[in-house]
Amino acid sequence: MGLAERAHGVCPNEAALQWRRQNLLDIFLNHPLGDQNVRSLVFEEKCGHVVGFLGLVPKPILFRREPISGAVGTYFLVDPANRGKLIGIQLLRAALAGQQDLLFGDAVSDVAKRLLSIAGAGVSTRLSYHWVRPLRPLALVLSKVKGPSAKRGLAKAAAAPAAILDRLSSRLPFIRVPRPTTDLSLREIDRDSLLICKSRLEPRKGIQPNSNIWLSWAIARMQASPSIFGCLRLLGSFDRTDRLVGWCVLCTKPGQIAEVLDFGATDKVAPHQFDLVTIEAFRAGATGLAGRIDPNLLGIVSNSYCFVRPNNWMMFHSRHPEIWDAFERDDVDLSRMDGEFIFGLP
Ligand SMILES: CC(C)(COP(=O)(O)OP(=O)(O)OC[C@H]1O[C@@H](n2cnc3c(N)ncnc32)[C@H](O)[C@@H]1OP(=O)(O)O)[C@@H](O)C(=O)NCCC(=O)NCCS
Repeated sequence: MGLAERAHGVCPNEAALQWRRQNLLDIFLNHPLGDQNVRSLVFEEKCGHVVGFLGLVPKPILFRREPISGAVGTYFLVDPANRGKLIGIQLLRAALAGQQDLLFGDAVSDVAKRLLSIAGAGVSTRLSYHWVRPLRPLALVLSKVKGPSAKRGLAKAAAAPAAILDRLSSRLPFIRVPRPTTDLSLREIDRDSLLICKSRLEPRKGIQPNSNIWLSWAIARMQASPSIFGCLRLLGSFDRTDRLVGWCVLCTKPGQIAEVLDFGATDKVAPHQFDLVTIEAFRAGATGLAGRIDPNLLGIVSNSYCFVRPNNWMMFHSRHPEIWDAFERDDVDLSRMDGEFIFGLP
């Protein structure tokens, strides 16, 4: 907690402090999927003072349908007073030399990417690309204004006229929210239906998540903290015969970008499902809709008015060449529900 405070600042109030403490305990100590091979690392000075941390969270993975020991690396921190002393690189090298078969992180910053590359990790290009589909473009731009309070005050004052302009511009082809044109309908589903739908429709890939416990844990965490994650929606697409033919996990917060965390459907259904999810995000007051490029969405995103850019690198490491090879061939099915997003860490 001391290191977190020095690196990320003091919590503004008691509730935020409690949340930070509980969140760190839940992720790094009370994780439901213990794995002897996976341990978080701290860097201690001789006096026992902790000045660096690299969290490793056990993540069961299937490689060619066989279970392997996986870990998500996250919360990579060095005390601001001790940066540039090669503590970070030592933590990374120790993590990469660990017992796990696969280590990955999917919210890696530019500076951590550089260090990870030096330490010997690889980067997955496709899983590092994200798309954003503007829904209320001016509100979207204003929500990104950071910096001095005068600048933020100005952005706040501009919010009302921006809302009017966004309404007027909503007829432009690249902003217009689609109208549903199929017999598909999108409805809330429960966790069990989501799991069944995923197991039925998800394409078989070399590297896949291996435990429903992780997904259930992730859903419970996110539903319990709407102020951090927004409203978590488990959505299913139903065809004319009321058969479940696709799924989407969506996080919405009014006035912010809605995040697609997981999306799957058959090729025929996927574009229509994407339209329905876009409508859903717009109705929830989102300024835009965003997600990671996954194979299901590649064609849809390139045919829609979306911005695509690398954002939050996906880095990986394995001592097994065949696992490395699977990443390089993009033979990977890991959604954002399998990675760092669900931790809600800064
Ligand atoms: C990212 C972070 C953990 C790095 O920790 P650190 O202890 O300062 O890093 P190191 O001292 O090991 O490395 C610092 C520099 O040495 C360089 N370096 C380290 N080993 C090297 C090597 N073998 N060859 C060449 N350069 C090397 C790095 O490229 C880096 O260069 P820079 O100063 O130009 O950025 C730290 O900056 C931090 O806590 N940042 C805030 C939190 C954060 O952003 N975390 C990452 C989230 S994904």
